[in-house]
Amino acid sequence: MNGDRMRAPFRRPPRRGYLCGPTPRYRLLERRVAKDTLTITDNRTGKQYEVPIADGTIKAADLKQIKVADDDFGLMSYDPAYLNTASCRSAITFIDGDKGILRYRGYPIDQVAEKASFLETAYLLFEGELPTRAQLDKWESDVRYHTYVHTNVIKFMEGFRYDAHPMGMLLGAVGALSTFYPDAKDIEDPHNRYLQRIRLIAKLPTIAAFAFRHSRGLPYVFPRNELSYIGNFVNMTFEIGGKHEPNPVLQRALEILLILHADHEQNCSTSAVRSVGSSQVDPFSAVSAGIAALYGPLHGGANEAVLRMLDEIGDKSQIPAFIARVKSGAGERLMGFGHRVYKSYDPRAKLIKKVAYDVFEQTGLNPKLEIALELERIALEDEYFMKRKLYPNVDFYSGLIYQAMGYPTEYFTVLFALGRLPGWISQWEEMLRDKEQKIARPRQIYTGHDERDFVPMAMRG
Ligand code: CMC
Repeated sequence: MNGDRMRAPFRRPPRRGYLCGPTPRYRLLERRVAKDTLTITDNRTGKQYEVPIADGTIKAADLKQIKVADDDFGLMSYDPAYLNTASCRSAITFIDGDKGILRYRGYPIDQVAEKASFLETAYLLFEGELPTRAQLDKWESDVRYHTYVHTNVIKFMEGFRYDAHPMGMLLGAVGALSTFYPDAKDIEDPHNRYLQRIRLIAKLPTIAAFAFRHSRGLPYVFPRNELSYIGNFVNMTFEIGGKHEPNPVLQRALEILLILHADHEQNCSTSAVRSVGSSQVDPFSAVSAGIAALYGPLHGGANEAVLRMLDEIGDKSQIPAFIARVKSGAGERLMGFGHRVYKSYDPRAKLIKKVAYDVFEQTGLNPKLEIALELERIALEDEYFMKRKLYPNVDFYSGLIYQAMGYPTEYFTVLFALGRLPGWISQWEEMLRDKEQKIARPRQIYTGHDERDFVPMAMRG
């Protein structure tokens, strides 16, 4: 007979968290009946609980029944930064971080990036299916119809300081759109939601281009609706004196980059959109929350940080010293490396590396690319990075490409926002339709003082 079985009833459970592994007693039960449930023994009370397992999860609310006394609130799970908590059900994007898989609505990212246009990808993310020719034509023409912004949006944007960060401008202007379209508050009506979705997709490139021109002191260029979505955006950013010579290779490269950024399930900015949107605010306000989250250096700002890092390294000979500083744990990071979800090569990074070669063939080689390639080679062979499963992420090469296209460093995150918009709105829509969702409201473990009496100023030391 197996030793576990003989000793099971008498052995103390492991000290390290009772929920982290099956107790010997449970292993015994498990052999008898396989059930989609989890049996929890509360060693404070000796009581046992059986909670259902569905889709590889237990419901955190099922833990509430586990109490030491009737007036006890009940057991909670503690998960700062949501490392192991599913906050929703979603049918939009699938990621397997260990295998390096990313799919939009079931379609592998490399196929979508190779074959679809950005608006087609946006349609796929919103609607769940690839559009027919007629559906895509209607979608494109609806978007085209709404590319202009109200003249007061222009005045609003002109009010920003001459050196305002374009991402701050985008954030402010998108939030302000809610005052231009108060009808957007009616989030119950699907037709109205469609209209706001179109407005966002159509106007974001215009606002983003205005932010670009503003920081360069250039007059704003208005949309030209005979151009493609990407062509129009590029024209609004780079046209000078009514002229711009489009480069189809660079435009397609930009389109691929935007497609690769279009959704990435429950990342920081998408969670912000869902969380803020769960208060039933209008979509412009919810999306501006996403833009704010993306602004941070650990999220969308990372490609900007990669270029700064490459500038600081300056030369291939300095790479070993830089890697040593990163490994010393003094706080410096190899930007563009590592990911909360991917524990192998980010599939987007693979595709972006390919795009980088296409772009540099057109624009000439950037010496920073050489530093990046060498940095990647060294890091991928280094024990520190291997042990922590740190691989290049989407931002490692994207900044270099944007720079080669002529976009300044502080503009990279704006380009990321343009790409991520379809994901934000699709996830917002999915959240609204999900009957299990309510206003987001995490709990806390209170670590402050117990009740104490207020101390008058004169008596404070
Ligand atoms: N360089 C050096 N060490 C790193 C890095 C890095 N880029 N990333 C993680 N580590 C180390 C970290 O110090 C820790 O080591 P230890 O276990 O010894 O304390 C270990 O790896 C785990 O790191 P973590 O911070 O707990 O991991 P996380 O999942 O919380 O962080 C991350 C993910 C993306 C914030 C982080 O990898 C990072 O800061 N990367 C650099 C910034 C970056 O490139 N961000 C873009 C992310 S992809 C675009 C997007 O989706 O927004």
